[in-house]
Amino acid sequence: MPFTRKAYRAAILHSIADPAEVGIEASYEYFEDGLLVVENGQISAIGHATELLATLPADIEITHYQDALITPGLIDTHIHLPQTGMVGAYGEQLLDWLNTYTFPCESQFADKAHADEVADIFIKELLRNGTTTALVFGSVHPQSVNSFFEAAQQLDLRMIAGKVMMDRNAPDYLTDTAESSYVESKALIERWHGKGRLHYAVTPRFAPTSTPEQLTLAGQLLGEYPDLYMQTHISENLKEVEWVKELFPERKGYLDVYDHYQLLGERSVFAHGVHLCDDECARLAETGSAIAFCPTSNFFLGSGLFNLPMAEKHKLNVGLGTDVGGGTSFSLLQTLNEAYKVMQLQGARLSPFKSLYLATLGGARALRLEDKIGTLHAGTDADFLVLDYNATPLLSYRLKQANNIAETLFVLMTLGDDRTVLQTYAAGKLVHQR
Ligand code: GUN
Ligand code: ZN
Repeated sequence: MPFTRKAYRAAILHSIADPAEVGIEASYEYFEDGLLVVENGQISAIGHATELLATLPADIEITHYQDALITPGLIDTHIHLPQTGMVGAYGEQLLDWLNTYTFPCESQFADKAHADEVADIFIKELLRNGTTTALVFGSVHPQSVNSFFEAAQQLDLRMIAGKVMMDRNAPDYLTDTAESSYVESKALIERWHGKGRLHYAVTPRFAPTSTPEQLTLAGQLLGEYPDLYMQTHISENLKEVEWVKELFPERKGYLDVYDHYQLLGERSVFAHGVHLCDDECARLAETGSAIAFCPTSNFFLGSGLFNLPMAEKHKLNVGLGTDVGGGTSFSLLQTLNEAYKVMQLQGARLSPFKSLYLATLGGARALRLEDKIGTLHAGTDADFLVLDYNATPLLSYRLKQANNIAETLFVLMTLGDDRTVLQTYAAGKLVHQR
């Protein structure tokens, strides 16, 4: 590949630590007139434009943005590809919502042409919304994952996905068996895991839809390959929590089911965790497991309020998830708008810098990818966004009243959405232009 070097000049902001650990001021770097230098798909330098330009050849290609903010690409730690066609399904809470809407919608992925079509729509939607990495649930059908990875590979995206494992308590047309789920997952791992910027996640849907045999084999897969991910759901809804107690009476609680089958670990991401208890948070932290906080979904499905301060107390890794189609937006900016309200309803605050952390570095840490994504540090992948301060008339007017980057950032997260994302870059290439 020929050597390429480009520079991007604008205001630049990235999160460099968790505000809960270092305080707000030490948690970010902001360059009012910044320069980001990209070489061969990676960031090679970041700093004040005038200082950095003095060190670079005079003929370097520079793209200069006015009224714009460069940030790292956003990271969605929980989303369902085969639910793209059912976002905003009316009237039900989790278990009835799954039976009424989700399972019929996911059944369409038995058809490879359908899987290809939706994978294309889904990836375009991620990029339009500034999401450059996502941890993705496929359907039970391996082709849902093949279609997704084929499309992600063409754009050299850093993506993680897995085929759902589900061998009970779901319609016959949508179940696998313990054995077939093991064989099919293994084939997908062999084909995709570690290829380019793609990674595989072993994906038991949630405890109620897997037999003990299937959970055993999921744990076995994790032991067979290095650096595999595991994704599932936990303690999202009170009826679900009760059901798990009935199905696994011999276990101490919901998390203990997953623990028993050796599904906890540094690359394990549990979606929701709204109804976790203190001991369960401690165990998640002890094993290095992470939670995907999914506020739009938790509101939409009436699931409850995630207790972020409890997670912080345990130093638990937390990322942000849209959980489309339980969640109602692909936009992590809109997801942060709702996250703020989750905290308000619990008498707490979510600072804009904690929000930025959750959507970028926090997500990267949850996925153990902080050396590659989540910041704009030199040596990381050039996955970044250009956010437009003039995206809408109201945003433009409102941002003129902002006095500092904290206010600007908070307004971007409150009023911002897909329209705010002017450009998305992945591995240094422009992959979305509004
Ligand atoms: N629990 C089990 N499956 C699902 C799902 O598809 N979405 C959500 N939000 N929760 C689940
Ligand atoms: Zn989900």
